[in-house]
Amino acid sequence: MGHADPQAERAALARALARELGRRAFHGERGLAPPGPLDSLPRRGSDAGDARTVPSAPPGTEQAVETSLATSQPESGRPARGPAESGREPGAMPPKPQGELTPAEVDDRRAAVAARAARAGSLDELRAAVADCTACGLCASRTQTVFMDGTGSRGVVFVGEAPGEQEDRTGVPFVGPAGQLLTDIVTKGMGLRREEVAIANVLKCRPPGNRDPRPEEKAICTPWLERQLELLGARVLIPLGKHASGHLLGTPDASMGSMRGRSHQRPDGTQVIPTYHPAYLLRNPGDKRLCWADIQVAMDAAGIPRPGR
Ligand code: URA
Ligand code: SF4
Repeated sequence: MGHADPQAERAALARALARELGRRAFHGERGLAPPGPLDSLPRRGSDAGDARTVPSAPPGTEQAVETSLATSQPESGRPARGPAESGREPGAMPPKPQGELTPAEVDDRRAAVAARAARAGSLDELRAAVADCTACGLCASRTQTVFMDGTGSRGVVFVGEAPGEQEDRTGVPFVGPAGQLLTDIVTKGMGLRREEVAIANVLKCRPPGNRDPRPEEKAICTPWLERQLELLGARVLIPLGKHASGHLLGTPDASMGSMRGRSHQRPDGTQVIPTYHPAYLLRNPGDKRLCWADIQVAMDAAGIPRPGR
């Protein structure tokens, strides 16, 4: 029969695979815009991170929003909901990943998400597709996906980092103490109803224990967000905190101070006006003043009249 030496055959296969992975990693798109000029700006310490946790010691204001809710809780035997019980489209998504993904696998998963997102013709269809998503490992530990709140009817979309414990439990973004402050920003600051803006996150599933999202999770999940913004007809994006802001601007290492305070235009014409994460503002209420300045830039960009004018 002329079998080749199986060991040599395996080695040849491994070499071919490594070549292909290298090729794809080189040519593949990793999801984030290329580093921009902001990348080289100096960092201002560990400013304005996006903790999805809340301060343990309320800073003396905003008591109403700070008292009730717990800090990040470790995962504790919460039942995981897997793809089997979600009735997902067969073959629509690669199987649930275990462990590390190669760059090529990340690209493939991102492409699969992009293809499914492109097929969604409405926000309802997109929400349903996201609810079935098993493209990254976070599907294993989530209670449910967290798609969006509000309608975005005024053209403004707030973009947080990822759901926290309460969001994972309720399926609604920004419902914890940081969410209460965000609601105040929208209602008391902007003079709108919360439903008039849209509130979403870069990631649709909660990272276990509120750990920071991993680059590959963001890369894989981002096509959902991009399609969401497209279907919303978003004109003004307000990323909340360093992580979401850096992600939307393609400058993951830029400091909050270097990004906020002005509008950045994306190639698709949407304006990005970064501001502090409300969880950060709960710990640093002195910076609410700067947040308000950012919100006013965003209101001008969206054509929303400032209250009292
Ligand atoms: N923090 C976020 O970034 N997103 C949420 O949905 C809640 C808290
Ligand atoms: Fe899918 Fe995003 Fe959830 Fe990962 S975080 S499983 S990519 S929806």
